[in-house]
Amino acid sequence: MYRSHGCGELSEEDVGCSVNLLGWVNSRRDLGGLIFLEIRDATGMVQVVIEPGDKSFDAAESLRNEFVVGIDGVLRLRPERQRSAKHPTGSVEVVGESVVTFSEADTPPFVIDANIGGQAISEDIRLKYRYLDLRRPEASRPIRLRHRLSKAIWDFLDTEGFIQVETPLLTQSTPEGARDYLVPSRRQPGSFYALPQSPQLYKQMLMMAGFEKYFQIARCFRDEDLRADRQPDFTQLDLELSFVDQDEVLDLNERLMEYVVKQITGKDIQLPFQRISYQRAMDDYGTDKPDLRNPLVLTDFTQTFKNTSFAGFAKTLEENGVVKGLVLNNNQLSRKQIGGLEEIAKSNGASGLGWIRFENKEFRGSLAKVLNAGEAAEIRQHLPDGGLVLLVAGSWKLACNSLGAVRQAVAELLHLTDSNADALAFAWVIDFPLLELDDDGSFTYMHHPFTRVHDEDEQLLETNPGLARSLAYDLVLNGIEIGGGSLRIHTPSLQHRMFEILGFTPDEISRKFGFFVDALRYGAPPHGGIAWGLDRLLMLLSGSASLRDVIAFPKNQNGSDPLTGAPSRVDDAQILDLGISIIETTTKE
Ligand code: AMO
Repeated sequence: MYRSHGCGELSEEDVGCSVNLLGWVNSRRDLGGLIFLEIRDATGMVQVVIEPGDKSFDAAESLRNEFVVGIDGVLRLRPERQRSAKHPTGSVEVVGESVVTFSEADTPPFVIDANIGGQAISEDIRLKYRYLDLRRPEASRPIRLRHRLSKAIWDFLDTEGFIQVETPLLTQSTPEGARDYLVPSRRQPGSFYALPQSPQLYKQMLMMAGFEKYFQIARCFRDEDLRADRQPDFTQLDLELSFVDQDEVLDLNERLMEYVVKQITGKDIQLPFQRISYQRAMDDYGTDKPDLRNPLVLTDFTQTFKNTSFAGFAKTLEENGVVKGLVLNNNQLSRKQIGGLEEIAKSNGASGLGWIRFENKEFRGSLAKVLNAGEAAEIRQHLPDGGLVLLVAGSWKLACNSLGAVRQAVAELLHLTDSNADALAFAWVIDFPLLELDDDGSFTYMHHPFTRVHDEDEQLLETNPGLARSLAYDLVLNGIEIGGGSLRIHTPSLQHRMFEILGFTPDEISRKFGFFVDALRYGAPPHGGIAWGLDRLLMLLSGSASLRDVIAFPKNQNGSDPLTGAPSRVDDAQILDLGISIIETTTKE
């Protein structure tokens, strides 16, 4: 098949040329004998005009939207009045001489018109007919950007001496905190592969194998509750390096990010990124993924209320809790809005959201009456005329988290980030606790069990493991965690100790991780790495509203694929072959 030009490539320079186009009919207008077609291909769109009396006229008349055609003709300038600067090919048109139809098309379930953006089409319909949806430039743009993102990553890391290695998809379970997707083995009935939650253990073993610098654009699978920024199968840029300290890993990632952002958005970003300890991120922003475009910072009011007569706060403080506050100057929040914010605080675990306003020389609000003179004076130091403070008392983590959610909601209500909505606010959150307490009072890992403890905190593993900080870091962009990694344990004794602290029995250690502890016994280099959530990064860089927009064939919010119908029932024979049986239950999501 011959094509002389891409539709979107034609320009005034080509006027007078014979052109041969291949593509789809984007639109057809019949104007009293003159037929205007818009022909669309992967490069863009151009107008074709078929004049009355032309031998191709009958063929053009039978065309409908989305027919696949070949058009031969000659390019000319459009009459002056009909030129449009809005379209890249808006000053030219093809005078059609022959029209061939390769295939006809049913009427699509929604309008596919490259001229119309921002159409409200139901997402499930778009995903069911994703191959039609992707004909719309608006829908295919993030997928094209995705290609450029991968290429930029390959180019940069190749120059830095990284080797791309693929790791298996049918594998052992890797503990990343989610449920595994399991694949039954036919050859060994009753045994299962797990799809990788990440290539974590393989990349560490590649360091033990001596590769020193590895990367992979890796598919990962996690069976967890879905949200706008989560997919059951998603993509990581996974990388690992030997003989590095934390600063070297962060520095490499910053330079890679600078390159990638420049390549795909043309924007320059400021290096180095801010590095914020977990403790400070929680204290100041109420979250370990702060959106630094939001100027609000939390204030600690624990000391102010240490002798409070207010029973609700007094009890919390007796139990070593804290009082955190969010101070707003001259704000316009109504009582109703404060009520809405209280609901947000409560849904994040707070028992309530107190508020005090200083107005016309007096305190008002739900907590105004409980203030004694000393407390009032201290509050007043933070509160200008017309100011408002929102207060939560609770355990440190609960108070920070719930007021952190209020902080984000206030920024949205008051449009505090609108002026820098397009900014890319990167930050590293570092010095995470190594462990956190599970609901049952046992320790669980905060990142994963292979994360190394800060050298100076190693002795805490014996005395007070809950206080030990890890050499783990998260990369945050505009309030979304787009990456996470750590330096790793590289000695079998420390790895063993970590498994013990996490409550694994010797039998579990050898059954689940025996191969890995063995691998550590043959000379493992100090190493560390990171994984970026590529879908999330692309969502933010392309200004997309959801991860689904940046994935060619995504799952919907229920984890189903409306296009193929997956997951689906399979034939009884297939089940039998696998040596498993299905227990019918009414499933609860
Ligand atoms: P982590 O679990 O933090 O680290 O994952 C790395 C990044 O992957 C992205 N991500 C997701 N994106 C879309 N859908 C999901 N369900 C999903 N889950 C995670 C996030 C996250 O920051 N092996 C470690 C990395 C390491 O230690 O090197 C790991 O997987 O952006």
